[in-house]
Amino acid sequence: MLGLLKPTDPAWVDAVKGNLEALLIDHAHCELKAAQSALSIVSRHGWDHPELAEPLLELAREETEHFRDVLKEARERGIRVPPPEPDKYVSALMKEAKRDGTPERRLLDRLLVSALIEARSCERFQLLAEGLDDPDLAAFYDRLMQSEARHYRLFTSLAEAIWGEEITRERFSVLAAREATVVDRLALGPTVHG
Ligand SMILES: [Fe+2]
Ligand SMILES: [Fe+2]
Repeated sequence: MLGLLKPTDPAWVDAVKGNLEALLIDHAHCELKAAQSALSIVSRHGWDHPELAEPLLELAREETEHFRDVLKEARERGIRVPPPEPDKYVSALMKEAKRDGTPERRLLDRLLVSALIEARSCERFQLLAEGLDDPDLAAFYDRLMQSEARHYRLFTSLAEAIWGEEITRERFSVLAAREATVVDRLALGPTVHG
């Protein structure tokens, strides 16, 4: 799905079903970090690439809305969301990209790592939309899944507009292969990317 090379182990849905509280807490953090990351790309690269500002600010707005929506779902279930901790999946992806990343391609890697995170979130939200017993929460994830698919396409198309299709595809396939090993390495748990 969406350029991912390794499908999620179906046992992940069972891990989540057993601990919806942990899922919602981690999910709230993911949405907040997605908004912060989009703003940080604009703040670091938007001066050299002003065409990034408009779409990424809109994306940050949407992710902020998702963050608010997840907080609401958590609150309605009596779940208190603590402050976020570093995300092992995202840190591992950034580290993989840095292995052979160059300063000139830092933005390319940033956009493609973001695209992969969106793709994996989209895949997982689809599993939740199909597998959760709570119909409201399943519908919630179905809606979010569609946004994250759109975000995946946004990040890849922003990369293509700057570096062209060939370079973008080539680098994406390298990073997608590494993403598959990261997913394999992480313990299966009740978190969005765990
Ligand atoms: Fe989101
Ligand atoms: Fe997203």
